[in-house]
Amino acid sequence: MFDALKQQAPDKIIALMKSFREDPRPIKVDLGVGVYKNAQGDTPIMRAVKAAEKQLWHDETTKTYVALLGDPGFHDAMIDLILGDTVERENVAAVATPGGTGAVHHGLELIRMSNPDATVWVSDPTWPNHVSILGYLGINHRKYRYFDAENCAVDFDAMLEDLDQIAQGDAVLLHGCCHNPTGANLNLGQMAEVAEVIRKKGAIPFVDIAYQGFGDGLDTDAIATRHLARHLPETLIAASCSKNFGLYRERTGILLGVTQSEPAAKLVQDNMSYLNRQNFSFPPDHGARLVTMILNDPDLRADWQAELEEVRLSMLSLRQHLADTLRERLNSDRFDFVAQHRGMFSRLGLSEVEVQQLREKHAIYMVGDSRINIAGLNEENIPILVNAIAKVCG
Ligand code: LMR
Repeated sequence: MFDALKQQAPDKIIALMKSFREDPRPIKVDLGVGVYKNAQGDTPIMRAVKAAEKQLWHDETTKTYVALLGDPGFHDAMIDLILGDTVERENVAAVATPGGTGAVHHGLELIRMSNPDATVWVSDPTWPNHVSILGYLGINHRKYRYFDAENCAVDFDAMLEDLDQIAQGDAVLLHGCCHNPTGANLNLGQMAEVAEVIRKKGAIPFVDIAYQGFGDGLDTDAIATRHLARHLPETLIAASCSKNFGLYRERTGILLGVTQSEPAAKLVQDNMSYLNRQNFSFPPDHGARLVTMILNDPDLRADWQAELEEVRLSMLSLRQHLADTLRERLNSDRFDFVAQHRGMFSRLGLSEVEVQQLREKHAIYMVGDSRINIAGLNEENIPILVNAIAKVCG
């Protein structure tokens, strides 16, 4: 039976993690997968997470099932974190999912269940797994232009031109902040224009927000999502706690459906519960419980926010340092955009051949489209990267 299986194309980002691990060269630079690393190259457990885990170990008395939708306390805490007081709580449906990917998967399934003919529009480029999951689910999808490769900035006119083609009942996948893979983001005015197009066309926005707190701050990073939720009749939101709580392996995410009424939210929530049951029954609880404890305890929350802010500021200073060093070394402003981009990634605008040379000749690993993980940079490897870029681009 299994002979009939066909080989699956490897996921580029996961394949890159493996190649990096297997590279025997003593000096190598990992700018691949989106995992935060401190100056020592470690991905530490956040202080508030560790403290909450200790408390949980002491207080938790059972591991029995929670609920198909996950813990309602987690829903409330995450809705507050993402949406603040933008919308009425009872109009929001929520389900805990295994990571942000689980939320994206469920969100797309929900779109298909609501409208099997929907086309889901994704930015060109987007996180490769968006496109992969859409293909896996057999959902129609199209790309809208997003990134001007020449200037490494958003091509807003092209984006609007493409979004003019969306039809009633379609969905538009947007990155809430910290666009992955480009690092180039819409400003609030631009997001408001996009919201207006979506509203006029009778489509729905599907926001993927996986890096809240990594760009301009926790609330500022949520502004675009809040705008959509406030101004459109329905909004879907997939959020991840992998990065901002550093809970990668605990698989902690949430899918929210913002509606206009409590009965509408109940119907969405009922379908979300069904999706969990059909796919894996109960969502993981450990990470979600830690997040809930942190968000509800003033001391833990303050400490978490302080550490997240340190992480955010360290990435901003790495961006500036890389941009300055490239400018000096190349005597050119070609890479100045790195300091303007936000979030964990920037797409450098190098060719595939240049990226390959960086990997083969200099042991520098970045995704094939020249996306770098800013958090993989440090004082020691920035000069290595800059010299290597000077060589391959020279
Ligand atoms: C990334 O884009 O590197 C992260 O979102 C990790 C992943 O699962 O791809």
